[in-house]
Amino acid sequence: MKLIKQDILNALKTITAPGEGENMVDSGAVTNVVTFADEVIVDITIRNPSLQARKKTEVEILQTIHKLVYEKAKIKVNIKVDAPATSPKNEIKGKSIPGIQNIVAVASGKGGVGKSTVTANLAVTLAKMGFKVGILDADIYGPSIPIMFDVANERPLSVTIDGKSKMKPVENYGVKVLSIGFFTKPDQAVIWRGPMASKALNQMIFDAAWGELDFMLIDLPPGTGDIHLSIMQALPITGAVVVSTPQNVALADAKKGVAMFQQDSINVPVLGIIENMAYFTPAELPENKYYIFGKEGAKHLAEDLNVPFLGEVPLVQSIREAGDLGRPAAMQTGTPIEAAFEAITRDVVQQVVDRNDALPATEAIKITTMAGCSAVKKN
Ligand SMILES: Nc1ncnc2c1ncn2[C@@H]1O[C@H](COP(=O)(O)OP(=O)(O)O)[C@@H](O)[C@H]1O
Ligand SMILES: [Mg+2]
Repeated sequence: MKLIKQDILNALKTITAPGEGENMVDSGAVTNVVTFADEVIVDITIRNPSLQARKKTEVEILQTIHKLVYEKAKIKVNIKVDAPATSPKNEIKGKSIPGIQNIVAVASGKGGVGKSTVTANLAVTLAKMGFKVGILDADIYGPSIPIMFDVANERPLSVTIDGKSKMKPVENYGVKVLSIGFFTKPDQAVIWRGPMASKALNQMIFDAAWGELDFMLIDLPPGTGDIHLSIMQALPITGAVVVSTPQNVALADAKKGVAMFQQDSINVPVLGIIENMAYFTPAELPENKYYIFGKEGAKHLAEDLNVPFLGEVPLVQSIREAGDLGRPAAMQTGTPIEAAFEAITRDVVQQVVDRNDALPATEAIKITTMAGCSAVKKN
């Protein structure tokens, strides 16, 4: 079988380039086609930098050539990303945060699945690994990070930097924290309306003295509402982590969460899914695992959605106790919990590294090695 270049071009004309109205040949996205015998190499330049867009484009090209030209064609697709100098996303955002290298949003479809618990434990584990870490607690429905870090009664101080007064994050266990909870009295119920919440969040982001951070973790509110949109638009988010428990009701919502990040107007890379409360383990019988909420539900969801699976956290009493006590469980050295969070955190860092290699940085500086991880410090 000898493939003919024009046949390949005709087939590619049936595909629309991501983010453009025209077919990928006329739009100029196809930059080169080389054929020899039953092999074809297609060079593509696309403007949409998301991994999803690249994958989708590649799959579409393979399927189309196999269907319209030759079903056994051996195809190699080289995709180059040519993001415009100021990507549309940055235009909306307008601002970046100097000194903050990676912003990781932690989301869940459903509330109560352990989003804040996972955020807190990721943060202390990153800090143990030697990274500079901050948490922005943006959960307007139930900000719980101050309790989990035992700083519920503290308030951020004001500092003056370059003549401007800025909010200084509260710090504990090597993690800087700002929370929407600091804006309310501890026992006062506040219903945050959209504009109020946006204003408070903007202050915590842009009027705060975060200093240098390798990672800012954002504890997002559960669900997929307007507040998520405004956060995504206000911040250059490096990637999102979705937390779910294994049962169907939580998984259905987690799926919506992943879809929210992947939709065109948001386009935040999904770094992966973490399965929380994967199984119950009694402290006295650590070998026994009880799959109370079903087995590997979040893992299967990750496979179905073609996003990385970042690992599982068991349901153990000490995690809940540590959260209530204000000292995240992953700080207890030599425990299986510490080990579980170390494994997950390494995976998250690796995904951030891969993401920064594959896509244009959202910030000027980016982490390109796992150096911080190999130097895991134990305290
Ligand atoms: N793996 C776990 N094992 C035991 N308790 C957990 C675990 N994950 C979360 N919890 C507990 O479940 C409750 C809800 O978790 P939280 O992190 O506040 O959820 P979310 O932020 O998603 O609403 C908290 O009391 C927390 O301590
Ligand atoms: Mg929470």
